[in-house]
Amino acid sequence: MLSFEIALGRCNNLHKAHITQLVITEALVLSTAHAFQNCTQTQHTEYQHCFTVHTDKCIVCEVIQMEGIYVTIRTSLDPLSGSYNILWVSLVGSQCESPPVRPLTDAQCLLPGSSCSVLIKPDKEIGTVVLVRLRLEARPGFPNLDWHCLDVQLKLSTEDTEAECFPCHRWIRTADGDVELRNNRVCLLNCESLQILREHRARDVQNKQKHIRWRTFVEGGLRCIDMSSVHALGPNLGFSRQSPGVNVHYLRGFTDRAEPWSSLKELEMLFIQNGKDNKVAKYVQAHWKEDAFFGYQCLNGCNPLLIKKIHCLPPNLAVTSEMLKDFLSGDSSLEQELEKGTIYLLDYGVLDQIPANVINGKQSYLAAPLCLLHYNHHGEMKPIAIQLQKTAGTKNPVFLPSDSAPDWLLAKIWVRNADFQVHQLLSHFLRSHLIGEVCCIATLRKLPEIHPLHQLLMPHLKNSLQINIQARGSLLAANGVFDKAVACGVKAMPLLLARGTDQLHYSSLCVPEDLKERGLDKLPNCYYAQDALRLWNALYRFVSGWVELYYHDDKEVQSDSELQSWIQEIYMEGFLGFTHTGFPQSFQTTAELIKYITMVIFTCSALHSAVNFSQVDFNLWMPNSPAAMIRPPPQVKGSVTEEDLLSFLPDVNSTCSVLIVLSLLAQPALDYVPLCQYREWYFKSGDLHRLVKMAQQDLRAIADNIIKRNSKLELGYPYLCPNNIENSVAI
Ligand SMILES: *[C@@H]1O[C@H](CO)[C@@H](O)[C@H](O)[C@H]1NC(C)=O
Ligand SMILES: *[C@@H]1O[C@H](CO)[C@@H](O)[C@H](O)[C@H]1NC(C)=O
Ligand SMILES: [Fe+2]
Repeated sequence: MLSFEIALGRCNNLHKAHITQLVITEALVLSTAHAFQNCTQTQHTEYQHCFTVHTDKCIVCEVIQMEGIYVTIRTSLDPLSGSYNILWVSLVGSQCESPPVRPLTDAQCLLPGSSCSVLIKPDKEIGTVVLVRLRLEARPGFPNLDWHCLDVQLKLSTEDTEAECFPCHRWIRTADGDVELRNNRVCLLNCESLQILREHRARDVQNKQKHIRWRTFVEGGLRCIDMSSVHALGPNLGFSRQSPGVNVHYLRGFTDRAEPWSSLKELEMLFIQNGKDNKVAKYVQAHWKEDAFFGYQCLNGCNPLLIKKIHCLPPNLAVTSEMLKDFLSGDSSLEQELEKGTIYLLDYGVLDQIPANVINGKQSYLAAPLCLLHYNHHGEMKPIAIQLQKTAGTKNPVFLPSDSAPDWLLAKIWVRNADFQVHQLLSHFLRSHLIGEVCCIATLRKLPEIHPLHQLLMPHLKNSLQINIQARGSLLAANGVFDKAVACGVKAMPLLLARGTDQLHYSSLCVPEDLKERGLDKLPNCYYAQDALRLWNALYRFVSGWVELYYHDDKEVQSDSELQSWIQEIYMEGFLGFTHTGFPQSFQTTAELIKYITMVIFTCSALHSAVNFSQVDFNLWMPNSPAAMIRPPPQVKGSVTEEDLLSFLPDVNSTCSVLIVLSLLAQPALDYVPLCQYREWYFKSGDLHRLVKMAQQDLRAIADNIIKRNSKLELGYPYLCPNNIENSVAI
């Protein structure tokens, strides 16, 4: 446009000049070129004020005293953004609407990276333009390709140096009908001055509500999206994950071997191939039998969400002070240690009476162990008592470190087996994937796109829809890996998820409270706790900045009806309105709002990474985390020998199928977006850009610190290093 305006400035007395020739200077941008072409073609109808003059002084002159609105529509740069479809554009003004026009001629089409322009001259005064309406129409004989529109820019006169931008940044399909874009002034409903725009907000969520609906996944569990195919999500909510290709070559070929491993040597052989590049997995293989490593995993393994400090024993755990005396420091007693706060508990009661799967035609078994641990003065967390079933009884002995080595090891393997189930289904799927999905559904259904929290949250939430639809359709479905190889199969899953939902407390998702409640906040070697807390604080700061840009006091939070209906929707529809779980149903203060939003972002990014990133490392050496046990838990002591242990573990082919899935899940995507790196246009300027930069700086400092710390540790804790955290649940 630049050269055009310079030209205009040089020949402002050419009002009535006659069109003789069109000359386009080299500096003209493509969009202007289009307009010039249009101009010469249609000069006597739509473009009466359009002049192109060729004189000796003035190279190009054009659109003098333009009356009308100069509209430029831009297609995104990505090579797949273009379309053959026919585009219609109309403007919605504060007074009336302009009739739709076609900005492209029959000979033109929407090309990636291009723009097209049209001068819209409504017959009547339309007032201030508040919405730009776009519609795609299929072109007969051509494939109906979706179009990725970047934005629409309006100029009221050629003297306007600044165009007004109506951002789009999304796919438009013929099936979408009218798509209305508004300008980029993000605001709350209460600050919306025009009725048309208030109505537009309402229309936005009403349209979403037709498409995005709730469904019960399992009775009593968090709800999910009512959609069974990824295709139904449409182009704006789906994504393609580019995977670098995983080497599972050495895990394949065992598909038919439905029998137990014949010796530990065989299992080691498998591991030599598959674990050779994994330092952590090798460490696990070397140390998995050790008590201190068992405890280490509860703090820094793939499921650090369960262990908790206790000050009195659970009534169903049949231990006495006398039994445990030898495993505590010096002449201390259990009572003293409980008082001191050095006794911890793992309680898998949630698995009690859950029906275990039949795998390869054989019944598998589940225990519901209680495991007591002691944090000793060497800084080691060591298990000191394990009871395999929830209810104490004569057939439910308490195993102790002083029992025979196979007895004690087997008891620990049962705990690890229980942990596999709880880790995969509750820590990973429920607490991270499903919470992400619930919040995503509510955000789409209740917050219009122009709402500042829609903008902040969607980059963290969006991908959870697709990945969860895929998980429900394959991994968790009949014939999926859980059905074929995991003790909690398709029959157990609904029960476990319902119990998990019932026991899911809001405070357990808020890091500072959770760590305090579980007594992990002051443990010097719980790296999960330290890193999680630092990340939480950085995210909290970021979210505070964001929230305070739009909400100036608590009243504005209380009176934001869109926000209140969002939290209400999550509570009632997603979390089933459970009152005992402490989830808020409304927001009274900005502080409550900031905490909740921080929780959502943390859960979808950091928490997911902590429980996902680590799983191959700790599960590759299968005896450390068997997915199923195919003999019942022992009911007496002294019933097993070292050689017997293998017969409890899963068959060869089920072992390998679990490892294949874990390895596939373990691949970072090529288009991986790290925490607080945003691709959305609105993060790229102004206050938001400043907030993002600050958050990124905080995260970089945390990353440096973690990398430095890890370099001094035998086994580092890299899982919450910000560089390794993906911005959303995408795998
Ligand atoms: C293991 O092999 C048995 C028998 O060939 C087969 O029925 C079963 O589906 C296999 N399991 C897995 C997980 O591949
Ligand atoms: C999941 O874990 C694997 C490692 O086990 C990691 O490579 C991948 O990036 C993780 N994905 C996410 C979303 O964190
Ligand atoms: Fe995941």
